[in-house]
Amino acid sequence: MTTVSSSRTAATETWRSDFFGTINEMPPEPVGLIEEVLESMATEPGFHSARRALIRDLQLGPGQSVVEAGCGTGSALPDLISVLGLGAQVVGVDPSRPFLERARSRASGLKATGARYEEGDARRLPLADAEHDAAYCDKLLIHVEPALGVISEMARVTRAGGRVGALEWLPRFAIGTTDSDLADRYNEVYRQAVCNYHACSNLERYLHEAGLIEVRTRTFLASASSLDEHSFWRLFLLAQIPLFSHAGLISEDDGRRFTEDVEELDRRSEFNAAFLIRTGVGVKPA
Ligand SMILES: C[S@@+](CC[C@H](N)C(=O)[O-])C[C@H]1O[C@@H](n2cnc3c(N)ncnc32)[C@H](O)[C@@H]1O
Repeated sequence: MTTVSSSRTAATETWRSDFFGTINEMPPEPVGLIEEVLESMATEPGFHSARRALIRDLQLGPGQSVVEAGCGTGSALPDLISVLGLGAQVVGVDPSRPFLERARSRASGLKATGARYEEGDARRLPLADAEHDAAYCDKLLIHVEPALGVISEMARVTRAGGRVGALEWLPRFAIGTTDSDLADRYNEVYRQAVCNYHACSNLERYLHEAGLIEVRTRTFLASASSLDEHSFWRLFLLAQIPLFSHAGLISEDDGRRFTEDVEELDRRSEFNAAFLIRTGVGVKPA
């Protein structure tokens, strides 16, 4: 079994990321859309329940400190404040500068003076060893590799006895359409676009390999029976299609037909969509 202080060199050799590693080079328009998608994911009830369960499983209390690797726009801050209080000691690390700006302005709007957001890579966190009570990542492992590099780094910055966790999802939609092949081609977009598509099914293994003990996982289902049940569904399923076509992940024709089909089913109250989310938390041994 790899120890919690697993070699940085070994992790660096296989570093890989997907489009989420190129946000700093993107024009403002797609970045703005991605930010809106992230905001909508934060409050979609399946994701929100999973995030709150993950934070509960980190067993944090007032005055304690937590690291979020791959913090994005800092959308978890309100949930962290609800557990840690307004004095929450939160350190978010992310390489995407537009997201960090939004995270910092959220923290200042919430008067969360103990929250700080720093530019950095989750596979080499710019933080000292064992200084935090817990560390976690949320929808990160799907976008970077190796997962072990991320989890080992989160374990390194966590004190002995502290908890390390991850939330991940499988972006494969069980979705009503009149054309199953088209739905398969649509789902294929995500399989092609992300770096570690199956991360959510391997949380136990990753956490064990990083030397964590007492690993506990949970599985959640997100679902909707109307496109407008929550902003997430229309934004995630349909608004991103032009970006996918532009990236060559789906043809413009398929993208248009999928959109029309889903919207028509929604008008007839025949829309439904669902996907899986998982969380895992382990303890750093003494
Ligand atoms: C799907 S977003 C999730 C953001 C946030 N955790 C949330 O739940 O809203 C993935 C995040 O991973 C970040 N990311 C990409 N490569 C990374 C890396 N090597 N280290 C840390 N974060 C990274 C992106 O900038 C983005 O903010």
